[in-house]
Amino acid sequence: MPIPPLSRFDFPPGFVFGAATAAYQIEGSAFGGCGPSHWDTFSATPGNVVRAENGARACDHYHQWPADLDLLQAANLDGYRFSTSWSRVMPDGVKVNPEGIDFYDRLVDGMLARGLKPFQTLYHWEMPSALADKGGWANRDTCHRFADFSEAITRRLGDRVASIATVNEPWCVAWLSHFMGIHAPGLRDIRATARAMHHILLAHGLAVERLRGLGQPNLGIVLNFDHASPATNNPKDQAVSDLWDGIFNRWFIEAITRQTYPSAVLDGLGPHMPENWQDDMPIIGQKLDWLGVNYYTRHLHAHDATAPWPSLKDVPGTLPRTQMGWEIYPEGLHHFLTRLSRDYVGDLPIYVTENGMANADQLQDGTVTDAVREDFLFSHLAATKRAIADGANVKGFFYWSLLDNYEWAEGYEKRFGLVHVDFDTLVRTPKSSYHALARALARNE
Ligand code: FCB
Repeated sequence: MPIPPLSRFDFPPGFVFGAATAAYQIEGSAFGGCGPSHWDTFSATPGNVVRAENGARACDHYHQWPADLDLLQAANLDGYRFSTSWSRVMPDGVKVNPEGIDFYDRLVDGMLARGLKPFQTLYHWEMPSALADKGGWANRDTCHRFADFSEAITRRLGDRVASIATVNEPWCVAWLSHFMGIHAPGLRDIRATARAMHHILLAHGLAVERLRGLGQPNLGIVLNFDHASPATNNPKDQAVSDLWDGIFNRWFIEAITRQTYPSAVLDGLGPHMPENWQDDMPIIGQKLDWLGVNYYTRHLHAHDATAPWPSLKDVPGTLPRTQMGWEIYPEGLHHFLTRLSRDYVGDLPIYVTENGMANADQLQDGTVTDAVREDFLFSHLAATKRAIADGANVKGFFYWSLLDNYEWAEGYEKRFGLVHVDFDTLVRTPKSSYHALARALARNE
């Protein structure tokens, strides 16, 4: 067995190594009294999801969770980032489903019994259909319903979780899903986008306020970042690349840390924003305890004079790509970790809450060799270590994902797991990357 290029001892004491998942992608929404969500109907609409696959069964983690937690423990991981589905906990968006909340209760106890720190995420995209019917994130009232959900689940789990993130990737919730139409609810509408861009942050703020009121510690949010570069030195390409950086990378962190939105983005969204949005900024900009950073890739942009605002198009780069077609660019992770600490959060603890790659892994003679994922993982860990040396207060790193799972619009096609899942038999097989990580994280006890 080759010695991994890095070990846990290359990182500061107490650094948390973990893996991440999300409820809809692994649990099986057909089980345990879970209510319908907008992902069930989005995937049932032709053309939205590869082979129209959905999360009804997924990895059957709802039943197989003890073995899945064993896998985390046997990989020498310290933490597990999981999410608690809104539509499982509140199937109609209002009333608590005791079976759903009991499931998470058992799951958290199962983590603690295995020495795993529970890192909980409240919204990883299961909008209950009853609330989607009323406009979902375009409707301000949804933000208050989200605070209710946050309180209900925290009253049950809050005494045992290590941390709570309100929302996973507001950019995906708002822009990808309401402007680009790629995720549920699949809209392509600038007015709905502007509302979702603001309301998802208001929901975050109202939840933080509610949970602080309960005395809950360690509250944060998970933002995703995409490295933006102009395709050429042309000033127009530079301007749209900067605009994209504003839409993707600055909108959310600027609101949270400075209570403002980037003016170049308001040039486009301003006319469609909810009335008096400025009044919400103090709630959105409450102090947090930590920031989660999800990072996968970079994009190059060029000005597109034929398109309305934001008048940009992607230009393919030349770096090696993953199964998603995403370029592999570990420097981008170093860029964001150091930039965020320098420009926005100072010494606030930062966690890399997702980083990983999809690969067309093959199960052969009972094993999966994914050397390309080992390289990906260790080069991004090395980028994290460099960022710490350069002053970023990074406290942990979670690989996405523990298991091959339901990759949203890509169905079961794209495999991100450290553990291979056969989607017919649901048999789990740890890949070579899993074994390499387990060796790197051995505690030498
Ligand atoms: C992120 C999501 C996660 C997964 C990875 C590949 O955007 O948070 O659920 O789909 O990408």
